[in-house]
Amino acid sequence: MDYTVNLKKILSEKQLGYLRSLSAFIRSVMSPGLFKHSLGTYNYCLQMADRFLLTDADSSFEDYINGSNRNIHERTIHEKCFKLATAAILHDYGKIFSFEELKEITVRQKLRISDFELNCEPVLHGFVAPFLLKRDFKITDSEVLNSVKIHSIGSVKMSMIDKILYIADKVEETRDYEGVERLRNLSFEDINLCLLEVYKSNIIYVIKGNNVLHPDTVKIWNLIRGGLKNAI
Ligand SMILES: [Fe+2]
Ligand SMILES: [Fe+2]
Repeated sequence: MDYTVNLKKILSEKQLGYLRSLSAFIRSVMSPGLFKHSLGTYNYCLQMADRFLLTDADSSFEDYINGSNRNIHERTIHEKCFKLATAAILHDYGKIFSFEELKEITVRQKLRISDFELNCEPVLHGFVAPFLLKRDFKITDSEVLNSVKIHSIGSVKMSMIDKILYIADKVEETRDYEGVERLRNLSFEDINLCLLEVYKSNIIYVIKGNNVLHPDTVKIWNLIRGGLKNAI
Protein backbone atom coordinates (compact mmCIF):
# COMPACT_ATOMS: atom_id res chain seq x y z
CA MET A 1 0.00 0.00 0.00
CA ASP A 2 1.23 3.50 -0.76
CA TYR A 3 0.71 5.81 2.19
CA THR A 4 2.67 8.75 0.83
CA VAL A 5 1.17 12.01 2.07
CA ASN A 6 1.18 15.36 0.35
CA LEU A 7 2.30 17.35 3.39
CA LYS A 8 1.39 20.67 1.82
CA LYS A 9 -2.21 19.47 1.67
CA ILE A 10 -2.40 19.27 5.45
CA LEU A 11 0.26 21.67 6.76
CA SER A 12 1.23 25.21 5.79
CA GLU A 13 4.78 26.24 4.82
CA LYS A 14 5.17 28.05 8.13
CA GLN A 15 4.04 24.99 10.10
CA LEU A 16 6.37 22.74 8.11
CA GLY A 17 9.25 25.13 8.81
CA TYR A 18 8.57 24.99 12.56
CA LEU A 19 8.37 21.18 12.49
CA ARG A 20 11.66 21.02 10.54
CA SER A 21 13.30 23.14 13.24
CA LEU A 22 11.97 20.82 15.97
CA SER A 23 13.23 17.84 14.02
CA ALA A 24 16.71 19.37 13.62
CA PHE A 25 16.83 20.10 17.33
CA ILE A 26 15.78 16.66 18.52
CA ARG A 27 18.24 15.10 16.07
CA SER A 28 21.00 16.94 17.96
CA VAL A 29 19.92 15.70 21.40
CA MET A 30 18.54 12.19 20.78
CA SER A 31 20.29 8.90 20.09
CA PRO A 32 20.04 7.90 16.40
CA GLY A 33 17.56 5.12 17.25
CA LEU A 34 15.26 7.39 19.26
CA PHE A 35 15.41 10.07 16.57
CA LYS A 36 14.51 7.52 13.89
CA HIS A 37 11.56 6.33 16.00
CA SER A 38 10.40 9.93 16.57
CA LEU A 39 10.55 10.67 12.86
CA GLY A 40 8.85 7.36 12.08
CA THR A 41 6.04 8.25 14.51
CA TYR A 42 5.71 11.71 12.94
CA ASN A 43 5.49 10.28 9.42
CA TYR A 44 3.01 7.64 10.48
CA CYS A 45 0.85 10.21 12.29
CA LEU A 46 0.66 12.34 9.15
CA GLN A 47 -0.35 9.34 7.07
CA MET A 48 -3.12 8.58 9.56
CA ALA A 49 -4.10 12.26 9.70
CA ASP A 50 -4.54 12.19 5.95
CA ARG A 51 -6.94 9.28 6.40
CA PHE A 52 -8.76 10.27 9.62
CA LEU A 53 -8.30 13.92 10.62
CA LEU A 54 -9.33 15.24 7.24
CA THR A 55 -12.71 13.60 7.62
CA ASP A 56 -13.06 13.83 11.39
CA ALA A 57 -16.73 14.18 12.27
CA ASP A 58 -15.97 16.83 14.93
CA SER A 59 -14.83 19.20 12.20
CA SER A 60 -18.24 20.07 10.76
CA PHE A 61 -17.53 18.12 7.60
CA GLU A 62 -21.09 18.55 6.36
CA ASP A 63 -20.77 22.31 6.61
CA TYR A 64 -17.57 22.00 4.66
CA ILE A 65 -19.24 19.95 1.93
CA ASN A 66 -22.03 22.52 1.79
CA GLY A 67 -19.45 25.22 1.44
CA SER A 68 -20.85 27.30 4.30
CA ASN A 69 -17.95 26.82 6.65
CA ARG A 70 -15.08 26.03 4.33
CA ASN A 71 -12.47 28.41 5.70
CA ILE A 72 -13.14 27.53 9.33
CA HIS A 73 -13.00 23.85 8.46
CA GLU A 74 -9.72 24.18 6.58
CA ARG A 75 -8.19 26.13 9.45
CA THR A 76 -9.37 23.47 11.91
CA ILE A 77 -7.83 20.71 9.83
CA HIS A 78 -4.51 22.50 9.52
CA GLU A 79 -4.51 23.23 13.23
CA LYS A 80 -5.33 19.66 14.25
CA CYS A 81 -2.71 18.18 11.91
CA PHE A 82 -0.16 20.67 13.20
CA LYS A 83 -0.92 19.78 16.82
CA LEU A 84 -0.66 16.09 16.02
CA ALA A 85 2.62 16.56 14.12
CA THR A 86 4.12 18.63 16.97
CA ALA A 87 3.07 16.03 19.55
CA ALA A 88 4.44 13.21 17.38
CA ILE A 89 7.88 14.67 16.78
CA LEU A 90 8.29 15.49 20.49
CA HIS A 91 6.44 12.57 22.11
CA ASP A 92 9.62 10.88 23.36
CA TYR A 93 11.56 14.05 24.18
CA GLY A 94 11.40 13.01 27.85
CA LYS A 95 13.59 10.02 26.97
CA ILE A 96 16.67 12.18 26.54
CA PHE A 97 16.66 12.48 30.34
CA SER A 98 17.62 9.58 32.58
CA PHE A 99 15.02 7.96 34.85
CA GLU A 100 16.76 9.54 37.85
CA GLU A 101 16.71 12.99 36.24
CA LEU A 102 12.99 12.64 35.46
CA LYS A 103 12.28 11.63 39.04
CA GLU A 104 14.28 14.56 40.32
CA ILE A 105 12.42 17.01 38.03
CA THR A 106 9.08 15.57 39.20
CA VAL A 107 9.96 16.08 42.84
CA ARG A 108 11.66 19.47 42.40
CA GLN A 109 8.84 20.90 40.29
CA LYS A 110 6.15 19.26 42.45
CA LEU A 111 4.53 17.74 39.34
CA ARG A 112 1.25 15.95 39.95
CA ILE A 113 2.39 12.44 39.10
CA SER A 114 1.25 9.33 40.96
CA ASP A 115 3.67 7.16 42.95
CA PHE A 116 3.18 4.38 40.42
CA GLU A 117 4.12 6.64 37.48
CA LEU A 118 7.05 8.10 39.40
CA ASN A 119 8.48 4.63 39.93
CA CYS A 120 7.66 3.12 36.54
CA GLU A 121 10.52 3.79 34.15
CA PRO A 122 8.75 2.91 30.85
CA VAL A 123 5.98 5.49 31.39
CA LEU A 124 7.54 8.33 33.41
CA HIS A 125 8.95 10.14 30.33
CA GLY A 126 5.38 10.75 29.09
CA PHE A 127 4.09 12.11 32.37
CA VAL A 128 6.96 14.56 32.80
CA ALA A 129 6.78 15.64 29.13
CA PRO A 130 4.13 18.41 29.54
CA PHE A 131 6.50 20.20 31.93
CA LEU A 132 9.52 19.65 29.65
CA LEU A 133 7.70 20.79 26.50
CA LYS A 134 6.54 23.98 28.24
CA ARG A 135 10.00 24.65 29.64
CA ASP A 136 12.12 23.81 26.60
CA PHE A 137 9.82 24.59 23.64
CA LYS A 138 7.32 27.05 25.17
CA ILE A 139 4.49 24.76 24.09
CA THR A 140 1.30 25.47 26.06
CA ASP A 141 -1.38 23.89 23.88
CA SER A 142 -3.34 21.47 26.07
CA GLU A 143 -4.17 19.06 23.23
CA VAL A 144 -0.48 18.67 22.34
CA LEU A 145 0.60 18.34 25.97
CA ASN A 146 -2.11 15.86 26.89
CA SER A 147 -1.54 13.69 23.86
CA VAL A 148 2.19 13.42 24.68
CA LYS A 149 1.45 12.79 28.36
CA ILE A 150 -0.76 9.77 27.66
CA HIS A 151 1.05 8.32 24.64
CA SER A 152 2.31 5.26 26.46
CA ILE A 153 -0.69 4.20 28.53
CA GLY A 154 -3.67 5.82 26.80
CA SER A 155 -6.55 7.35 28.71
CA VAL A 156 -10.24 6.85 29.39
CA LYS A 157 -10.91 9.86 27.21
CA MET A 158 -8.95 9.90 23.99
CA SER A 159 -9.38 12.47 21.21
CA MET A 160 -8.67 11.62 17.58
CA ILE A 161 -5.20 13.17 18.00
CA ASP A 162 -4.55 11.00 21.09
CA LYS A 163 -5.66 7.83 19.31
CA ILE A 164 -3.51 8.49 16.25
CA LEU A 165 -0.40 9.23 18.32
CA TYR A 166 -0.98 6.20 20.56
CA ILE A 167 -1.27 3.88 17.55
CA ALA A 168 1.50 5.45 15.43
CA ASP A 169 3.97 5.16 18.33
CA LYS A 170 3.41 1.40 18.45
CA VAL A 171 3.29 0.56 14.73
CA GLU A 172 5.55 3.08 12.94
CA GLU A 173 8.01 1.73 10.38
CA THR A 174 10.92 1.01 12.75
CA ARG A 175 8.75 -1.19 15.00
CA ASP A 176 9.34 -4.86 14.31
CA TYR A 177 7.35 -7.49 16.16
CA GLU A 178 5.02 -10.33 15.29
CA GLY A 179 1.68 -9.01 14.07
CA VAL A 180 2.79 -5.41 13.45
CA GLU A 181 1.94 -5.57 9.75
CA ARG A 182 -1.64 -6.60 10.54
CA LEU A 183 -1.93 -3.66 12.97
CA ARG A 184 -0.56 -1.31 10.31
CA ASN A 185 -3.19 -2.44 7.83
CA LEU A 186 -5.90 -2.06 10.45
CA SER A 187 -4.68 1.44 11.32
CA PHE A 188 -5.89 2.72 7.94
CA GLU A 189 -9.15 0.77 7.97
CA ASP A 190 -10.77 1.10 11.39
CA ILE A 191 -9.07 3.34 13.93
CA ASN A 192 -11.16 2.23 16.93
CA LEU A 193 -10.68 -1.46 16.24
CA CYS A 194 -6.99 -0.79 15.65
CA LEU A 195 -6.73 1.06 18.98
CA LEU A 196 -8.25 -1.94 20.71
CA GLU A 197 -5.88 -4.39 18.98
CA VAL A 198 -2.81 -2.23 19.65
CA TYR A 199 -3.85 -1.78 23.28
CA LYS A 200 -4.32 -5.54 23.61
CA SER A 201 -0.94 -6.28 22.04
CA ASN A 202 0.65 -3.78 24.43
CA ILE A 203 -0.93 -5.36 27.52
CA ILE A 204 0.23 -8.81 26.39
CA TYR A 205 3.75 -7.47 25.76
CA VAL A 206 3.91 -5.94 29.26
CA ILE A 207 2.64 -9.12 30.91
CA LYS A 208 4.95 -11.40 28.88
CA GLY A 209 7.89 -9.34 30.13
CA ASN A 210 6.64 -9.79 33.72
CA ASN A 211 6.36 -6.03 33.97
CA VAL A 212 3.81 -3.97 35.88
CA LEU A 213 0.60 -2.63 34.33
CA HIS A 214 -0.49 0.94 34.97
CA PRO A 215 -3.45 0.92 37.42
CA ASP A 216 -5.70 2.63 34.81
CA THR A 217 -5.11 -0.12 32.24
CA VAL A 218 -8.24 -2.14 33.06
CA LYS A 219 -10.44 0.98 33.00
CA ILE A 220 -8.98 2.06 29.66
CA TRP A 221 -9.22 -1.42 28.18
CA ASN A 222 -12.87 -1.79 29.25
CA LEU A 223 -13.70 1.57 27.79
CA ILE A 224 -12.05 0.87 24.46
CA ARG A 225 -13.58 -2.60 24.41
CA GLY A 226 -17.05 -1.39 25.40
CA GLY A 227 -18.10 0.22 22.19
CA LEU A 228 -17.02 -2.57 19.87
CA LYS A 229 -19.14 -5.59 19.12
CA ASN A 230 -16.81 -7.29 16.68
CA ALA A 231 -13.58 -7.32 18.65
CA ILE A 232 -13.72 -10.44 20.79
FE1 LIG B 1 7.34 6.89 24.73
FE1 LIG C 1 7.68 6.45 21.26
